[in-house]
Amino acid sequence: MISDTMAARLNAQINREFYSAYLYLALSTEAEGMNLRGTGAWFLAKHHEEMLHAMKMVRYLLDQSAEVALTGVAAPPPKAQAVLGMFERTLKHERTVTAAINDLVDHALSEKDHATGIFLHWFVTEQIEEEATVNDILGRLRLFGDSGQGLLMLDNELAAAAQTMGQASGATA
Ligand code: FEO
Repeated sequence: MISDTMAARLNAQINREFYSAYLYLALSTEAEGMNLRGTGAWFLAKHHEEMLHAMKMVRYLLDQSAEVALTGVAAPPPKAQAVLGMFERTLKHERTVTAAINDLVDHALSEKDHATGIFLHWFVTEQIEEEATVNDILGRLRLFGDSGQGLLMLDNELAAAAQTMGQASGATA
């Protein structure tokens, strides 16, 4: 059993995870609209990952006999317009998620809620990987800008990465 406050904070995080899924679905459709199918597949794989993150938390609340309180998910922002902007938005968003996860860990520790603290470790590690991946993509995008050839190369790479992500999460991209 976890405290009502801890449950409320986890429910707020569930909403953030669903928002992440929604944001990446929007970016996926934007990339598809630009004929960047690999980029679209990569963002769709991210979408599936975020849905899994939300569901992990839903499962945890259920296992702790806590209430799952689903709330409205905000609409994603207007189109990013350029691939660089899409990944800058992604990194910025993931940094806010990392901060939120860290706050959750702090709160679990303040309550001496070790079960939730341990449960959240997976998310702490996941955030390191997510930020590193996006940073890497951004680094290359900044190197070649939004040039056609560079984008095509990156699009092919992201297509391959999306397949691996899809296999890892069990989702089809
Ligand atoms: Fe669920 Fe991208 O963090």
